[in-house]
Amino acid sequence: MKRHMAVKDLARDDRFVRSDMKDRLTDPRQATREEDRPGGTQKRGPAIRIHHPNAPDAARSLMHGIFVGEVQALEGAGRTCWDYDPGPARDEVPFELKLDMARQCWDEARHVEISCKLSDWMGTELGEFAESTMLFEAACNEDPVLRLTGVNRALEGLAIDVFNTMREFGQTAGDPVLEFCEDWMLADEVTHVKMGSDWLRRLTAKDPERQERALEFQRVVDKLFSYGGLRGDDDDSPVRLARRFRELAGFQADEIDEIAELSREATREREAMAAARTSASAN
Ligand SMILES: [Fe+2]
Ligand SMILES: [Fe+2]
Repeated sequence: MKRHMAVKDLARDDRFVRSDMKDRLTDPRQATREEDRPGGTQKRGPAIRIHHPNAPDAARSLMHGIFVGEVQALEGAGRTCWDYDPGPARDEVPFELKLDMARQCWDEARHVEISCKLSDWMGTELGEFAESTMLFEAACNEDPVLRLTGVNRALEGLAIDVFNTMREFGQTAGDPVLEFCEDWMLADEVTHVKMGSDWLRRLTAKDPERQERALEFQRVVDKLFSYGGLRGDDDDSPVRLARRFRELAGFQADEIDEIAELSREATREREAMAAARTSASAN
């Protein structure tokens, strides 16, 4: 069987529509901020809050994004089991890492099932929102350590923030199905992120240059997936940084602070772009 599969080879049926990140983020149904909604001029705070007019669509879109992420996380962890021979060389991985990835496949397969049932419960059809393939692309790195930082630490770290936010959303809304689905997936995601943190430190203990390269890739993915400030540490962040769960997943306090700062930077850039658009249309 072929090793190091390309993103174009992913198997999907015709329900799935692939798009780039820009298209997905400009889908008005997924607007998580009032000012991003068509005609949304009144500032009513982040949409992932009950009583917000766009809350149902924003929640459905966010959870559909998680569903396609679960499919790709399964595919990515499966590839990491297969793509490398067991061994100590840089293009090999310890056998125990393969076992962790196999366990992750089992969890992600269960998350796909949970997400399908949750979509049904929330009134979403599979494929109703587009799929971007960034997660699998991050799982295609040749160096397995970059897969661990890009996927396990950055993207599954984001999944921790989303699950925790949506669990609280379900609690406040009085929706026990949403609340428990999020709670169960959150518990597994903390384990997956911890696997990433532990293996990063073990595999790069004697190779600081490799560690720095992997952490730099993580920063790039973290910033990209702050979605212009969607995920952050401030009261008006639609998705809140889940500090406690990130600590349990092996993040140090200064690493969490750094993600919060990346998110503020992404917010400032988004606001500057919006201001430039407004002044261009006024001229
Ligand atoms: Fe998952
Ligand atoms: Fe995961």
